[in-house]
Amino acid sequence: MNKATRKTIIAGNWKMNKTPAEATELITAIAPLVKDADCEVIACVPYVDLYPALEAAKGTNIQIGAENCHWAKSGAFTAEISADMLASMGLKYVIIGHSERRQYFGETDKTVRDRVRAALDAGLTVILCVGEYLEQREQDVTAEVVRMQTKIALMGVSAEEMSRIVIAYEPVWAIGTGLTATAEQADEVCGIIRECIAELYTNEVAEATTIQYGGSMNDANADELLSKVNVDGGLIGGASLVAEKFAAIVKAASK
Ligand code: 13P
Repeated sequence: MNKATRKTIIAGNWKMNKTPAEATELITAIAPLVKDADCEVIACVPYVDLYPALEAAKGTNIQIGAENCHWAKSGAFTAEISADMLASMGLKYVIIGHSERRQYFGETDKTVRDRVRAALDAGLTVILCVGEYLEQREQDVTAEVVRMQTKIALMGVSAEEMSRIVIAYEPVWAIGTGLTATAEQADEVCGIIRECIAELYTNEVAEATTIQYGGSMNDANADELLSKVNVDGGLIGGASLVAEKFAAIVKAASK
């Protein structure tokens, strides 16, 4: 197991927060605090914030990503945004399969897979979210759940394309609840996902894949979570909306 074979990535997921003007303000506040980061720094922002965030991030080491994309190239899908539209703005990253999409917007493993395909075809790098509900953890089926989500989402993804897949393990019970998985729980499940990738591809591909933890990660617990061998970064919700907190997590990942 060698952490040095893969990139550490700290990504913010702003969810449905921040107006365009506030996005400019937040990126401008984060930029000087993370300029010396020894990891990748990403802010995934609402669609209307993409342009101002990109402008504010120009000349900095902050990359901007989106929070979702549609699976079709174009067509009669009112209010949806295609992967090509995102790529054409100069974006590199898109989150796919977040549990809030699965919980509230009818996202299924199949639609996740279709969106992953569209994003890869557009040249984007995907942050693919997987994770179990509390009941599933209590029934001891966490491994089965994350393995199934991972396998279905990656159907048809080539070993070569895996260099543009980042996986975020986000236990649903830890999102926005203040309940964090212990570092041991996070490491265990990130390890299960890595094993699954090794089975689907090769050990080399598994060792090169960045697997993040997400779920109430903050400036106080980031150090311990990120010290684990299978935890290669974080996908941060609440704490990514406060420049100092987000920067502290980036700092912990840069050690
Ligand atoms: P919180 O950090 O607010 O728990 O959110 C995590 C998350 O869902 C990131 O995608």
